[in-house]
Amino acid sequence: MSGKNFCLFIPLLFTLCSTTNGDLTGHLQPLGSQVPPVGDVLTLTEIPSPQEFFDQFVKPGKPVVFKGAATKTPAYELWTDDYLSSKFGEVKFDVEEGKKENRSRELFNMPLGEFLKSYKEKDIYLVASVPKIMRDDIYLLKCLLCGGFTDELQDSVMWFSNGGTKSVLHYDAIDNINCLMSGTKELFMVHKKEHAHVLIDKPDGSFSKVDVDKVDLQKYPGLADVPWYKANMEAGDCLFIPYRWFHQVRSYGPRNLAINIWFAHKLEFNSTDCEESPYKDKQFAPLSEFEVTESLGPGLPLLLLDEMEQKPIDEEKFLEIIKNLWNSEKLMKGEGIEVLKEIFKEIDTNEDSLISPEEVTGSSLDEYEQELMELFPRDGDEDDGEGDEDDGEGDDDGGDDFKDEGDVEDDDDENADIGRHEDL
Ligand SMILES: *[C@@H]1O[C@H](CO)[C@@H](O)[C@H](O)[C@H]1NC(C)=O
Ligand SMILES: *[C@@H]1O[C@H](CO)[C@@H](O)[C@H](O)[C@H]1NC(C)=O
Repeated sequence: MSGKNFCLFIPLLFTLCSTTNGDLTGHLQPLGSQVPPVGDVLTLTEIPSPQEFFDQFVKPGKPVVFKGAATKTPAYELWTDDYLSSKFGEVKFDVEEGKKENRSRELFNMPLGEFLKSYKEKDIYLVASVPKIMRDDIYLLKCLLCGGFTDELQDSVMWFSNGGTKSVLHYDAIDNINCLMSGTKELFMVHKKEHAHVLIDKPDGSFSKVDVDKVDLQKYPGLADVPWYKANMEAGDCLFIPYRWFHQVRSYGPRNLAINIWFAHKLEFNSTDCEESPYKDKQFAPLSEFEVTESLGPGLPLLLLDEMEQKPIDEEKFLEIIKNLWNSEKLMKGEGIEVLKEIFKEIDTNEDSLISPEEVTGSSLDEYEQELMELFPRDGDEDDGEGDEDDGEGDDDGGDDFKDEGDVEDDDDENADIGRHEDL
């Protein structure tokens, strides 16, 4: 007999809840509290071979944690504060004021010794390329030692604080392996295909302005039900953060030190050097044995082909893909759209309103890319903001700040412009 009332009551309550806060779970709460993760990022205890790494993780864009992989890197044991201070205390580094990234923080330059004296108390974050003299202590993992990865190492960066850093939600247009020497990190990671959920708003096109401590679901409604993966890193772990995956990184102390390596995204594995490489049977090799320089990585035609996944696409899909690859506000307004539509027509030689992989391959898209660069500089290229930290990552099925290393003893590896932010 109470059954009747009950039935009425439940739908009412349900309606009430769903209109007042059903859609706003986690509104103004930290990123990640809006919806539970789809799962954790896969963890492996064995490091795969370069070919396996490419086939299973790089190509499909799938994050993975290599448990304990960094414990063999000399820096893992060696780089205590005392050691760093006595050996590299005079080396100067860029240090950011403020551990919460907003891409407009002050940067200042100080000797490592000075940083080490004050980082435990201050709201500062050292984010800077590892200078050459420190690279003997950093190892590249086996999975990068052939196949062409080491031909395009782009930058290796140190991320050092007392914990409590928070990156913006962003992506990098290159692949990344981040190894943690001290502390723990947590990453919120979203597949690169989920553009509909992650609003990458201005100013530089590769990050979201959402406040990661207080997510405004009215401004960023896609985050209410974004499918995300969680990565937990402990000291000694390395995380692969795939090209273009969205990620947000939090670090915990009392001492947090990570070192990452960025490498150009490869569309093909080149096994030529796997046979004769001096590293072919090695588990690790010191970073100091390789060149680390900014290189271009694949151009627009290859990136477009990769996104097309072997299928013809229409104009709308073409515009969407280019928009995501190009990162330019300007390109996506009025005139830019017209230019892209013209390019689409040029590529579509059989005029069936679709462009096929063959048509892209036979087109002059590489020349158009040059023109686009002049007319519509990519937002990240234009403004090299300061250093930000970043890096991080997710599971499956998924720059720009220039750092002037002027004061570091060798300033040849400036890794500019690859879009970094807090993560790793
Ligand atoms: C960015 O962070 C710095 C350091 O915490 C702060 O001084 C500055 O006001 C922040 N800028 C914005 C736009 O929030
Ligand atoms: C593959 O790598 C070798 C060097 O190891 C290089 O000579 C060759 O040009 C590369 N092939 C392609 C297709 O990039």
